[in-house]
Amino acid sequence: MQWATLAAAALFAQNAAAQFNMLRFACSQLVVERTDPLVNPGMKFTPHLHQIVGGNSFNVTMDPKNDPAKLSTCTSCSFVQDKSNYWTAVMFFHHRNGSYIRVPQVGNGGPQGRLINKGGLDIYYIPSGRTTAFKQGFRMLTGNAGNTDPSKVQRANICHRCWNSPNENTFVGGAPCSGSDTVEIPSDPSCKMIRQTLIFPHCWDGKNLDSPDHQSHVAYGQGSGATGGGACPSSHPVKLPQVMYELMWNVTQFADRNMWPTDGSPPFVYSMNIGGAAAHGDYVFGWEGDSLQRAMDNGCNLNNACPAAGLTTQPDSVYSACTKRQQAVEDVDGWLKEMPLGSMAIKA
Ligand SMILES: *[C@@H]1O[C@H](CO)[C@@H](O)[C@H](O)[C@H]1NC(C)=O
Ligand SMILES: *[C@@H]1O[C@H](CO)[C@@H](O)[C@H](O)[C@H]1NC(C)=O
Ligand SMILES: *[C@@H]1O[C@H](CO)[C@@H](O)[C@H](O)[C@H]1NC(C)=O
Repeated sequence: MQWATLAAAALFAQNAAAQFNMLRFACSQLVVERTDPLVNPGMKFTPHLHQIVGGNSFNVTMDPKNDPAKLSTCTSCSFVQDKSNYWTAVMFFHHRNGSYIRVPQVGNGGPQGRLINKGGLDIYYIPSGRTTAFKQGFRMLTGNAGNTDPSKVQRANICHRCWNSPNENTFVGGAPCSGSDTVEIPSDPSCKMIRQTLIFPHCWDGKNLDSPDHQSHVAYGQGSGATGGGACPSSHPVKLPQVMYELMWNVTQFADRNMWPTDGSPPFVYSMNIGGAAAHGDYVFGWEGDSLQRAMDNGCNLNNACPAAGLTTQPDSVYSACTKRQQAVEDVDGWLKEMPLGSMAIKA
């Protein structure tokens, strides 16, 4: 049985008809720091902490005229041709004594088994029918970093799953953002890991590479979840590959409720010091030339090299070695008296 068929069958168990190829690959952490070239360009010590993966041309300012594929000398993702940047908030555990510690991240489980990454995330490009790949300079954002109302979040696009399997290789549950998945971060000592899923809009207005809110040039279409997305609205008629981030937060070491806050506040929060309703992801396209378009057109699959599209892969020892020094230098590891937070942004 082909991996493609197996992967599709497991991931899309609820949609028996869906059998198609998609990219699914690992990215290690490039840097964890308070920068955000999309929302706060030119700033160091932006309001909250991010983890960033991808091409090492990531910087406090990323002029859309510059091509990350040309400026990067390495990428922390497994496809050599992908110098895009992908970033999210990080998750903290809040100890009842007031201290915070960053929750470790591990490679994803799933139908391929574990994808190896060093504290990073896994990226999917899921096509549905013919798709138009992003153009150089394209960027977008999903989710709202200030939102505290779970009812404002589409659970089919942004969700969390309690992963109670002891082993990240053992796939838990059905399609992402289905079943008992929640918008909120689960608070359950039986969770060994918490899987976070961020599914980006897959419909584009066909004109703007970005928009002032980094969202209105794209839209969700019909269909929901990790299906590649259905038909697009007339306002955003161009169907893009559906981008999905998956993160595995290893909460095993925090299972003892005696460490949890006594005031009923949640043990796990994102780096804005609020919960799952504020989960968000940022995307800056940076594939070399038309390599992503060719990958989609040629049905390139999972994290396999794909000669038809010129895609090559590098071993985890190589992509994990692609890192950057913090530009907003501060402690982000170990027990912290306070969460690195605040609007003390300074011009870089
Ligand atoms: C990143 O930005 C800083 C500040 O603008 C600049 O000095 C530096 O050269 C840039 N680094 C890269 C790799 O582009
Ligand atoms: C809170 O508990 C952790 C884990 O035992 C410890 O390392 C940290 O120093 C404590 N923080 C304070 C403020 O006591
Ligand atoms: C998750 O954390 C536990 C406790 O620290 C550790 O024993 C386990 O190896 C971790 N899992 C992975 C996949 O790193």
